[in-house]
Amino acid sequence: MHAFRSIGGFALMGRTAALAVFAVLFVCADVRASDEEAHVRGRELFSKCERCHELNPERGNRIGPNLFNVIGRPAASVEGFGYSQGMRDVASGGLVWTRENLDRFLTDPRSVVRRTSMSFRGLDDDGERADIIAFLSTVKPDDFAARSDADGPAGAEIGAAAMSMQGDTAYGEYLSTECVTCHQTSGADEGIPAIVGWPEEDFIRALFEYKSNVRNHPVMKLITSNLGDEEIASLAAYFSQLGQ
Ligand code: HEC
Ligand code: HEC
Repeated sequence: MHAFRSIGGFALMGRTAALAVFAVLFVCADVRASDEEAHVRGRELFSKCERCHELNPERGNRIGPNLFNVIGRPAASVEGFGYSQGMRDVASGGLVWTRENLDRFLTDPRSVVRRTSMSFRGLDDDGERADIIAFLSTVKPDDFAARSDADGPAGAEIGAAAMSMQGDTAYGEYLSTECVTCHQTSGADEGIPAIVGWPEEDFIRALFEYKSNVRNHPVMKLITSNLGDEEIASLAAYFSQLGQ
């Protein structure tokens, strides 16, 4: 009985090995095409990062450091970028952005750098992370040239258009009736954050982050989805002068 089982086991292993060889041949033949596809998908997915990260090495940093050639780069090594203490600590511990470390960081940034200033929730989807990493490891000048020229806010800071406007305080007050059912004009925080007296840019950025799902909150997403640049600039102007 025992002997019979192990012979059966060998036979099974033989088949598995043959299948594995097949799979490897198949994968090799297809590897170029699938690399290219991952690159294209990753380029799309990079829209989740590009409000904060520039890829063009000539364009410097944004909210986050430039990510050109980031694969294989030691952490916190972009000159002139103000990294958090947490990121500088892991860097002095020798952290390098290998594919594996980047994959862990993108899954849950705070699990790798506990006090990171990167306010990004992380990506749960293994495939999405793999595609972004594939893209980052094969970025070509074409990729960032196309992105920088793209119309729309791709090359600009989130909410840049609204930030460059002069908000209308009276219009903002009018619009605020929709907000003050939840947020207190007194600035009290009763479970719902206080939003008075903020610098206008921070306020505008926060609303755009809800609008574009950088910050994930269904109610604020719904509320901001109908607000344009002018409305957001006016709300920022109104709320910033409250409580001062
Ligand atoms: C809301 C802005 C924001 C978003 C969105 C964001 N990042 Fe970041 N990222 C930062 C900031 C800020 C830092 C610096 C963190 C620190 O110093 O702790 C950073 C750091 C990094 C680093 C470390 C770089 C270095 O030089 O050590 C990598 C890698 C990175 N981000 C990749 C990504 C990727 C990939 C995405 C998209 C999936 C992304 N980030 C999305 C803001 C962002
Ligand atoms: C139904 C209740 C509700 C309404 C109405 C509402 N908010 Fe909010 N708002 C919230 C909650 C809850 C949060 C915290 C969300 C989170 O955890 O990110 C929030 C967060 C915010 C933040 C970020 C606060 C922070 O500390 O980062 C801003 C800014 C803001 N809201 C502005 C507005 C404006 C402007 C309006 C009106 C146009 C509005 N909200 C309407 C419930 C509401």
